[in-house]
Amino acid sequence: PFPWYKKMREESPLLYNEELDCWSVFSYEMVKRVVENKDYFSSATGVKKEQSLSRSMITMDPPLHTKIRSIVNRAFTPRVMKAWEPRIHEITNELIAKMEGKREIDFIEEFAGPLPVIVIAEMLGIQSTNMKKFKEWSHIIFSTPVDNSDEEVRIWKEAKLKAEAELEEFFNEIIADKRKNPGDNDIISILVKANEVGEKLSGEYIVPFCNLLLAAGNETTTSLIGNSIYTFAEQPEIYRSLQSNPLLVSHAVEESLRFRSPVQVMRRIVKKDLEFYGQQLKEGQLVFFFLGAANRDERVFENPEIFDLNRSNKRDHMAFGGGIHFCLGAPLARLEANIAISSLLKKYSAYEFPLTFELDPIPNSGVGYGLNSLNLLLKHR
Ligand code: HEM
Repeated sequence: PFPWYKKMREESPLLYNEELDCWSVFSYEMVKRVVENKDYFSSATGVKKEQSLSRSMITMDPPLHTKIRSIVNRAFTPRVMKAWEPRIHEITNELIAKMEGKREIDFIEEFAGPLPVIVIAEMLGIQSTNMKKFKEWSHIIFSTPVDNSDEEVRIWKEAKLKAEAELEEFFNEIIADKRKNPGDNDIISILVKANEVGEKLSGEYIVPFCNLLLAAGNETTTSLIGNSIYTFAEQPEIYRSLQSNPLLVSHAVEESLRFRSPVQVMRRIVKKDLEFYGQQLKEGQLVFFFLGAANRDERVFENPEIFDLNRSNKRDHMAFGGGIHFCLGAPLARLEANIAISSLLKKYSAYEFPLTFELDPIPNSGVGYGLNSLNLLLKHR
């Protein structure tokens, strides 16, 4: 999409689509204005009512959003993140141990896929005995139909509804259990304890919140780690720089977020008429804003098409959005990616594409930017 973004930034950074009666926004400055202006750009963009996400905070505006966010923030504080760090190291090393001796792997299947799923499951307090079921449910819920025939879509919908109902029941059991025996750092205990302090966050909001964590956190983090390693295979000199100076790993994570942003586009709905960069935006119109285009805006990032470990403004990217909906899981995603890359760095000297390599991007969305599979040859140290 990047050459197209460049053209749009230059020719029509704020583009109206007559047929669909919606706007698209491509420049860094404009995208920032949209995400930071919650009074005119609403997040209640009409996700279908029956979907659990419609009851989660990503599709809410203040004051309800403010209230829920102030409670769930407690599950992602620096203290909580610190407490999970050793366990994330262990999970990472277990996954690396499983790859031992293999020369060619699908990096997404063996590593970048499972890591965030296992981490979030443990953070939600899911016992390892239930992990298999949990993985199956998440897999079904976030799958897409094999093809678009009516029959396939019907079967897929049925399986998805069933998995959603089972997962909901499962979460309800965990919530009931944690109310009786709360733990220290697992997310559900933290939310349940917040209830006791008198701030209401009833089960009605906890289940959609858990679903939101899976929806917003898993594929995105998989893409961040997968896109990073893909970039190292494509540009081995970057990986060599990390080997000579592992302190640069956090720079690589930020640059990867900017360069190949896992979420390329988000949307809002115009809440009331406004003039925006000389155009009249009307209440009810959808506004798509391209984080991926903002992150390559040459007015903000010098030589944006280059992956630069030493970029001075490397944290100015908008891969995690901005404003009141700024990604809640950003500290977790950053932590996982840093641990993953640092640990892989100790084990492998390089990644190479096999002779028959074919790029396999995640399908059909245009929203997510990442790989469905990534076959690599591993060079051991
Ligand atoms: C929100 C990106 C990982 C949980 C967002 C938003 C973006 C984003 C762009 C803003 C949405 C909007 O403004 O409408 C990413 C990326 C990730 C990542 C690129 C990985 C590299 C995670 C993880 C979690 C998470 C690991 C949790 C486990 C959330 C939640 C929200 C959110 C709960 C909604 C916040 C709110 O509405 O206040 N994320 N995310 N994300 N993300 Fe992430």
